[in-house]
Amino acid sequence: MSHPQINDTDHAIPTDISTEIFISNWMIYRKIIENNNMSHREGYDKLRDILIKEMRRPFSFVDLACGDAYYSSKVLQQTRATEYIGIDVSEQALTLARKEFAGTDIEARFERADFINFERITPAPVDVIWIGFSLHHLDTPDKLQFMHKAKKALSSDGILIIYEPILLEGEDRSMYFKRFKQTFDTHWRGLTKEEGESLLEHVRESEKPETAKGWIKLGKDAGFSVAEEVFSEKTGLYELFKFK
Ligand SMILES: C[S@@+](CC[C@H](N)C(=O)[O-])C[C@H]1O[C@@H](n2cnc3c(N)ncnc32)[C@H](O)[C@@H]1O
Repeated sequence: MSHPQINDTDHAIPTDISTEIFISNWMIYRKIIENNNMSHREGYDKLRDILIKEMRRPFSFVDLACGDAYYSSKVLQQTRATEYIGIDVSEQALTLARKEFAGTDIEARFERADFINFERITPAPVDVIWIGFSLHHLDTPDKLQFMHKAKKALSSDGILIIYEPILLEGEDRSMYFKRFKQTFDTHWRGLTKEEGESLLEHVRESEKPETAKGWIKLGKDAGFSVAEEVFSEKTGLYELFKFK
């Protein structure tokens, strides 16, 4: 039975607009999860389906920018995962994540670190690398560098799976933000006015989505032979991609 610990590694923790909301007030994001504003439920259902179908042996799972692992902990208990490593910068989120895994049969470990340095923390090879709603904080060349690292870290049948915001063809970041705001105004539930404003500022200042073709190209350029879109959620803001 797992009794997970949080380790504070000494790698530099980015504390800027991309992480501030998660470090200072995790409960804003927790409300977003609970209200399913970003289709966590459907995306994580898809993740579970992929893992059940494609990982038919005991496997290790690295959850980059894991947050509170609310959904990943539940999904993994329905799969053959035996080992879990969660990396995040938010102490509040990691404390909750640790509780989600306590008492499960999955050997879980948590590191407070910048996920970009994951290869210094995780043993190689790993079987699954999952990153939900976080890779888009990087600039395009850094996303590619990350993809190369992920390819190198994976076992021969390993999978990288990402669930990320997408730009529509011809859209730039300011057009994306307008589309996001329309969805936010129409469909999002559960945040106070102040919480909503701080979330909108985070999205406007730090989200750097790619087009679906762009995400796939990054995977191909990093050497993955399978790079495909496997799920598109109902608002059209987020898509799930698989790389092997
Ligand atoms: C939108 S949340 C996503 C959480 C979770 N993956 C999910 O699917 O709900 C973004 C997460 O990324 C973390 N984060 C942002 N930048 C990070 C970085 N450079 N290194 C590690 N964690 C980071 C935040 O603390 C937060 O938990």
